[in-house]
Amino acid sequence: MDLFEYQARDLFEAHGVPVLAGIVAHTPEEARAAAETIGGVVVVKAQVKVGGRGKAGGVKVAKTPDEAFSYASDILGMDIKGHTVHTVMIAQGADIAEEYYFSVLLDRSNRNYLAMCSVEGGMEIEQLAVERPEALARISVDPGTGIDQAKAEEIVDAAGFAPELRDGVVNTILKLWDVFVKEDATLVEVNPLVKTGSGDILALDGKVTIDENAGFRHADHAALEDKDAADPLEAKAKEHDLNYVKLDGEVGIIGNGAGLVMSTLDVVAYAGEAHGNVKPANFLDIGGGASAEIMAAGLDVILGDSQVKSVFVNVFGGITACDAVANGIVKALEILGDEANKPLVVRLDGNNVEEGRRILAEANHPLVTIADTMDEGADKAAALAYGK
Ligand SMILES: Nc1ncnc2c1ncn2[C@@H]1O[C@H](COP(=O)(O)OP(=O)(O)OP(=O)(O)O)[C@@H](O)[C@H]1O
Ligand SMILES: [Mg+2]
Repeated sequence: MDLFEYQARDLFEAHGVPVLAGIVAHTPEEARAAAETIGGVVVVKAQVKVGGRGKAGGVKVAKTPDEAFSYASDILGMDIKGHTVHTVMIAQGADIAEEYYFSVLLDRSNRNYLAMCSVEGGMEIEQLAVERPEALARISVDPGTGIDQAKAEEIVDAAGFAPELRDGVVNTILKLWDVFVKEDATLVEVNPLVKTGSGDILALDGKVTIDENAGFRHADHAALEDKDAADPLEAKAKEHDLNYVKLDGEVGIIGNGAGLVMSTLDVVAYAGEAHGNVKPANFLDIGGGASAEIMAAGLDVILGDSQVKSVFVNVFGGITACDAVANGIVKALEILGDEANKPLVVRLDGNNVEEGRRILAEANHPLVTIADTMDEGADKAAALAYGK
């Protein structure tokens, strides 16, 4: 989960990273009030989860509260690379002498962390990395030891900071590492990290990505979620603890076990080539227990997707035997009643498959077609989605 700049700023502050005051505003009036509270020069900053806000006109210096009002009026509602600005942050203005860059991130391909640092920060770090890679120090960080005093000094020296800045930047990097570890982040980036006229080091812009897999040990992270942006179907699935990802096709998919669901997506996409190129509409893994409630919740989510034209239920009975799954499907259709309104192709295999198929055949639900194999089921579901 990517955070907004103001959320990153709050986390930085909580971990002792030097930041300036920042107040969130949703209207020009709130922006003016925030500017009055902060006092002096402020910066009106668009809060969108995309880079290059400054270049797009989403970062403006305001000398008075009235100017903050007027810039906020311009920026709120602005579209920045497809992201609408709903919120601005009114940040205390900094007297910037120099701009630097620092980031630490999970380096998946090398199975460790990577810190990057440059004394040439500011807006165009991607360009710098391409044009003059030597100006961007890249230091790998062993996950076992992390960024300790020695590692922070190594990073600062590799970037080439002036000696009088060394301690200040080292301390800030140690605090940022604290954010990275204690908040279970996969990215902490500061661009720009600045030196002020009086020689202080400040983090003026922050990007943080939180590892949602660690959500269980961060009760406070749930509040960071951007509810406005969440897909309503994904939100509903989350309420039921379902592993659901919305895709762009017409064939709804329910399976048990991530591996089986992934291969079902492939098989359906392949089968779809013969039926007007229909594609899978989602990934949904109902996990081990295919109870009627879970099946009903899963079907409910999938049928709520107006793009879905048919559903392929592909279950391999293991610990949960096929008869239990079949009963789950029959009861789920009862629970859903008229809301179940699209054809279902069901393929069952594995533990107690005969009994499972018997239960489905006996229920003889008008929407349900039974398939013997995965390929046959995929083909039927694709054909139904295409309208044949
Ligand atoms: N609080 C501040 N006081 C003074 N100047 C600021 C402040 N915040 C940002 N700036 C100036 O505006 C520039 C752009 O700001 P910022 O880094 O937050 O946005 P950006 O880089 O355009 O956006 P992104 O990082 O999303 O690409 C900074 O490099 C800095 O020069
Ligand atoms: Mg920036």
